[in-house]
Amino acid sequence: MADTNQTKKIMLSGIQPSGELTLGSYLGAIKHWPARTEEFDCYYFMADLHTLTVRQKPADLRKRTLTQLAAYIACGLDPKKNVLFIQSHVPEHAQLAWVLNCYTMFGELNRMTQFKDKSIKNNDNINAGLFTYPALMAADILLYQADCVPVGEDQKQHVEICRDIASRFNSIYGDVFKVPDPYIPPVGARVMSLTTPTNKMSKSDTDQNGCVYLLEKPEDIKRKFKKAVTDSDTENCVRYAPKEKAGVSNLMQIYSAFTDKSFADIEREFEGLGYGAFKAAVGETVADSVAPIREKTNELLADKAYLENIYREGAEKASYIAHKTLRKVYKKVGLVPRF
Ligand code: TYM
Repeated sequence: MADTNQTKKIMLSGIQPSGELTLGSYLGAIKHWPARTEEFDCYYFMADLHTLTVRQKPADLRKRTLTQLAAYIACGLDPKKNVLFIQSHVPEHAQLAWVLNCYTMFGELNRMTQFKDKSIKNNDNINAGLFTYPALMAADILLYQADCVPVGEDQKQHVEICRDIASRFNSIYGDVFKVPDPYIPPVGARVMSLTTPTNKMSKSDTDQNGCVYLLEKPEDIKRKFKKAVTDSDTENCVRYAPKEKAGVSNLMQIYSAFTDKSFADIEREFEGLGYGAFKAAVGETVADSVAPIREKTNELLADKAYLENIYREGAEKASYIAHKTLRKVYKKVGLVPRF
């Protein structure tokens, strides 16, 4: 079980630096992290090992990993109150992943929708890492005895398999792992593409107009929202109806996530104004809201020594708890301790 001296519950999450941070990652995940700092002991990391499941350009990966760290801080994660680290700096992630691979069933992995989607997108590189990815994600979570994992809806299946792996392990060896709960935000958990609103907004999308990046220039953000696909109906009326009006409903979700306005309030606000005015308003709201994050991120990126300090300290703090859990796991399964 988690450290008995531990008073606060533990929250943990990560994002792959496999592309630029998107509005989806922000609204589905990061935006909800800073508010929980007082209530939980929080661990947030750059999931760089996960990105290797798809070919990366090494220099780009390094750059994006640091940019992501700067963006975490710019989004409000105070490094004094949150443990911020790079996954590959804590080798226990890969070590526990190996053990958990041996407690994860082929059939379970075969049911993962992300594996199916990514296999289609990368059909020239369907590697074993892509398949066993959920065991590494389970290791990320279980090493820290996390109580709560705040993620967007697309990661729910991975948190569920993590719960199954933890329960299976515990049923054999006793109470070793905390079984974590996902936290999926009520609004913004599934931000859709602006050009194909039936698809998730994704950093790997080849259609650059469908995806808005957190650190994008305000004029580009506004342009993308102006061009956003609304709906083919002739109603020209802002109304929340995800099935019939996927485009407008997605924009309403985004607007609501930034303004805290309810869908009914948004419908009233744009009554009689039509899609054009609505799209422009959403674009402006998003651009204005994320501009300070962009500026702060760029400011932080100019201070490499500061960032280095944060990720070194973060890895040290993370290693302390990760090492303790791994040691216990090794002992339970029968490996001879070196010390
Ligand atoms: P990743 O890097 O694909 O996405 C990062 C986070 O952003 C959320 N997200 C979205 N939310 C709403 N709408 C969208 N369009 C959208 N796109 C992305 C994701 O749900 C996620 O919360 N496997 C994870 C990274 C990971 C992880 C972990 C997360 C590795 N280990 C341990 C939690 C705990 C992933 O690929 O997320």
